[in-house]
Amino acid sequence: MSFEIILVLNLLFISSISSSAIENQASHSRRRFPDGFQFGAATASYQIEGAWDADGKGEGVWDRFTHEDPTRVQNQENGDVACDSYHKYKEDVRLAAEMGLHHYRFSISWPRILPTGYEHKINEKGIQYYQNLVAECLKYGIQPVATLYHWDMPVTIQDLGGFMNPDIVPLFVNYARIAIRSLPGVANWMTMNEPKLICTREYGEGAFAPGVKNTGFGEYRCAYVLLKAHAAIYRMYKKEFPHYKAPMSIVLDGEWNEPASNKTEDIEAAQRRNQFEFGMYANPIFNGDWPQELIDRVEERSKMENFLQSRLPKFTRKEIEFIKGTWDYMGFNTYWTNLVADDEEPPYDSPPSYINDIRGKLSKDPSWKVAPCGFNMVPWGARKMLKWVKDTYNNPPIFISENGVCDDGTSLVDYDRITFFQDYLSEILNAIYKDGVNIYAYTAWSLIDNFEWITGYSAHYGFYHIDFNDPERKRTPKKSVRYFSDICKTGKLPRREDLISYLD
Ligand code: NOJ
Repeated sequence: MSFEIILVLNLLFISSISSSAIENQASHSRRRFPDGFQFGAATASYQIEGAWDADGKGEGVWDRFTHEDPTRVQNQENGDVACDSYHKYKEDVRLAAEMGLHHYRFSISWPRILPTGYEHKINEKGIQYYQNLVAECLKYGIQPVATLYHWDMPVTIQDLGGFMNPDIVPLFVNYARIAIRSLPGVANWMTMNEPKLICTREYGEGAFAPGVKNTGFGEYRCAYVLLKAHAAIYRMYKKEFPHYKAPMSIVLDGEWNEPASNKTEDIEAAQRRNQFEFGMYANPIFNGDWPQELIDRVEERSKMENFLQSRLPKFTRKEIEFIKGTWDYMGFNTYWTNLVADDEEPPYDSPPSYINDIRGKLSKDPSWKVAPCGFNMVPWGARKMLKWVKDTYNNPPIFISENGVCDDGTSLVDYDRITFFQDYLSEILNAIYKDGVNIYAYTAWSLIDNFEWITGYSAHYGFYHIDFNDPERKRTPKKSVRYFSDICKTGKLPRREDLISYLD
């Protein structure tokens, strides 16, 4: 072998060593979250607290919905006792602290602190409960993140029409003021959880409490009132609590809509669905007014259906200005992805319908894995959605307020949950480092198994298992506890090949 050939081979060898060292280095740093990145877990009042009528709590829409007709929920279950966190919150916070969580996201039950829904009668025991919960978090150095509205509206406010009636806006503000004034230790305020779900499932199809079936009108009316309530709370907060440092925003639910093909109609259908399902709530807050696609499409169909005006309410100029800019960051929940294809125009004499307005056929790719509770697990979909959000709303700071997966409750060895988090968190790292999305926090759903709305206790999302037949509601760690705890403590994703060690 000539000297030149040996030299070239040596150089190749050295460069292959150094490039693999660089790659290792790169993959190492790609697994590390930016400095100061926060990890936490979430729950919500009706899903965990129980004590549905204890200590002066008023009736909420989920109490009425489940008691009036128990068959509305799988196995006729309800949240009367749930995880009994009203009595066991100290244990919950201790578990969060042992995991090394930086924040704990919970929600406040409006009827627990204002049993009549109105501000004239404050339930001091309800207030005390949340003050204790906040104090308990602070004791361990955990940031309390409080959501003001996670779906448990007092029945009295619902009886006024709930999100169908703009008159509830000042009542919402009164409730929010009392909650905020009572809880100065909260580190981060979230006004409403998942408006898309509220407006579609509660006021459109009516499968969730309060069960209003009014599709084609209900979704838009609800969005219109809910956005005004959110903005009014935000404006009140900034005006009346200037000394509070906690940021405030709304929690939007971001599922990704992937075009089913490269055909222009399918690309447009997927974009249209993103605008109906996400833009309807995000655009008024982050850009101002409804998205143009939404305005045009609902107007077009309303006309063809012989309405004299669009079924989508119009914001006045003043309202647009009032709602625009009411955010300090974006709260973002993400779970699943759909394939969307354009669909035939439904006949114009069919009843008004939100689904017909969107006009998109949903499907899934056969290679996608499906969670036991039925949703498509597509980690790259979460990344695409985050990139879309960055591009559409001018790169706001994003607090991921929920992401997680269910198990069927039969085993504590939840390897599928570990790989779910690993895959989604890897894509979140790609969103941060490769796409430049400004994500600064991640919150797993959920700290403990809990009441999963109309599927009752069949879908277990927790790091901690709860046996709902046990009157003590004993919390038992699943294998994913140590996995997530390591991430919280190191700020770094483990290597994929090491995941198996969490099963020891
Ligand atoms: C989003 C909701 O905010 C929460 O209440 C629910 O339990 C999870 N998704 C899981 O479905």
